[in-house]
Amino acid sequence: MTATAARPSRILAISGSLRAASHNTQLLRAALKFNPGGQDIEIYEDLRAIPPYDLDLDTPELRPAAVTELRRRVQEADGLLIATPEFNYSIPGVLKNALDWLSTDWTRTEGLPLHRKPIAVLGASPANFGTVRAQLALRQIFVWTDSDVVVKPEVHVFRSHERFDADGNLTDEITIELLQQLLSALQSKIEASRA
Ligand code: FNR
Repeated sequence: MTATAARPSRILAISGSLRAASHNTQLLRAALKFNPGGQDIEIYEDLRAIPPYDLDLDTPELRPAAVTELRRRVQEADGLLIATPEFNYSIPGVLKNALDWLSTDWTRTEGLPLHRKPIAVLGASPANFGTVRAQLALRQIFVWTDSDVVVKPEVHVFRSHERFDADGNLTDEITIELLQQLLSALQSKIEASRA
């Protein structure tokens, strides 16, 4: 670990799936378990509470409390880890909605929460080709927000039902290794951004 990484990096992990047994959320839990070190990873639990985006309410004074809290947590995080399912060849609306709320600063007083933010993406799908398109759609959003997205490794957890045990623990060795590589790549970006 370098001198610039004296304190652990704070990573906010967001799953695009709300369902209790979500493979994407389980991937984030595995990130906590197999984290190679130097990172405090917190899973964001309140995606369900984020209201539909409304530009009329998108000011520091008028924003819904859940949005203000999410923006604060993203701004305080050194990096984000986002696991998305594939819904209709794209990302779930709930995740897109949250990212819309995170992409703005109309009053130019607060800073853009996603601007130059180090971000790692991954995704799980029970299908053979699922998650590939969703992750591309997610990466496309981060072009507009000018986020600092990890390019490699790509972590496409296809046939996801074969990679977890009955308690939702990630058991697939290749996926664990890729997940650790992804977290290391995210850490490198964070350290580069601090330097
Ligand atoms: C899906 N699913 C899906 N899968 C896929 O490979 N391509 C797709 O376009 C879609 N579209 C889609 C739409 C909707 C509305 C639902 C509910 C599901 C399947 C989906 O990717 C699968 O259920 C994931 O496992 C969901 O992720 P979690 O909940 O396990 O994290």
